[in-house]
Amino acid sequence: MAILVTGGSGYIGSHTCVELLSAGYDIVVVDNLANSRPESLRRVRELTGRNFRFYKADLLDQEELMKIFAQNKIEAVIHFAGHKSVGESVQLPLWYYHNNITGTLVLCKVMEKYGVKKIVFSSSATVYGLQERVPIREDLPLSATNPYGRTKLMIEEMLRDLHASDNGWGIALLRYFNPIGAHESGRIGEDPNGTPNNLMPYITQVAAGRLKELRVFGSDYPTADGTGVRDYIHVVDLARGHLKALDRIVNTPGVEAYNLGTGRGYSVLEIVAAFETVTGCRIPYKIAERRPGDIGICYADPAKAKRELGWTAEKTIEDMCRDSWRWQSSNPNGYAEDSSFAAGFG
Ligand code: NAD
Ligand code: WQD
Repeated sequence: MAILVTGGSGYIGSHTCVELLSAGYDIVVVDNLANSRPESLRRVRELTGRNFRFYKADLLDQEELMKIFAQNKIEAVIHFAGHKSVGESVQLPLWYYHNNITGTLVLCKVMEKYGVKKIVFSSSATVYGLQERVPIREDLPLSATNPYGRTKLMIEEMLRDLHASDNGWGIALLRYFNPIGAHESGRIGEDPNGTPNNLMPYITQVAAGRLKELRVFGSDYPTADGTGVRDYIHVVDLARGHLKALDRIVNTPGVEAYNLGTGRGYSVLEIVAAFETVTGCRIPYKIAERRPGDIGICYADPAKAKRELGWTAEKTIEDMCRDSWRWQSSNPNGYAEDSSFAAGFG
């Protein structure tokens, strides 16, 4: 029996594949490579010394998905595949609704057809909308402020309806806070296209000299130093949370949402300071206007995941900074071929 990992060559998916393989699971990966490269999976094999099937396939392609389920004995699904950029979702809402919602719909239809009723879904703290009451608990009212967030909310509701129709389903809705960091080997990590929107990849590219300076979006939030506070979580801790969720849904039917965060917030300037201390790199920055749509403070109450999944984040902010930098500095072009090598100078 194998675990099907959709979106497994992406940032969080590739780290979860490493944890699954290291824990002895067999896996099958499906990804259309819309936002990732197969090199990440080559490195997953290299890190774990284990092989697995990879299908370059789109979740929207129901026939292809049926073939994958027919060819493999799938026990459960961890579903990462989806588009994830908030700004892009505002520009291209139909593309987001189609890919994220229809992709999940097709996946669930095929799962149902093959009698596979266990799914761990990548949700997001974005489903808490403009919530400023912290720490954020799973039972707070949900809302979304952009099409990307609405796809997560709608998928959560779709999965709840599915469970209501057949309570043999076991469903974990994992609401990630702010994943950063990379595998400690420096072999896999986050490989954003173009200029990063998120804080940590921006900082690492400033440290690498690819970007001139960080713009700190707002210094007048009601926080200790006025800059935005978030719950950053190491991607390896996050990946391990998926294994704990899998354990639970395999044994206990039901549908439950879990916050995956550390329960502690850090401001932008605290992240800059931690990064500088750990790496010895200087991060020049200037204070800029607030970024539209941002909230001041957001951090999780992770007690439910601890209580019901037996999961807590273990890695420190220093680990997150060190590992993000190790990945960036040893892979300046991410997974892209080294340009001098590609040009024949290697
Ligand atoms: P990612 O873009 O690195 O990985 C997503 C993968 O899904 C990519 O490899 C992409 O090629 C693939 N994919 C997209 N649409 C597909 C389709 N129709 N068929 C097959 N494959 C498809 O993103 P990530 O950061 O690893 O995020 C994984 C999941 O976690 C996403 O659902 C994202 O919304 C969610 N999430 C991410 C964050 C974050 O900050 N990274 C936070 C909260 C939630
Ligand atoms: C963190 C802090 C910024 C960049 C986003 C999505 C969310 C989720 C995770 C998927 C904030 C500040 C940032 C910069 C800055 N993704 N910042 N300068 O906004 O908490 O969450 O990614 O589900 O849906 O909205 O993360 O890393 O963009 O920002 O000052 O160049 O860093 O204002 O306070 P965010 P982020």
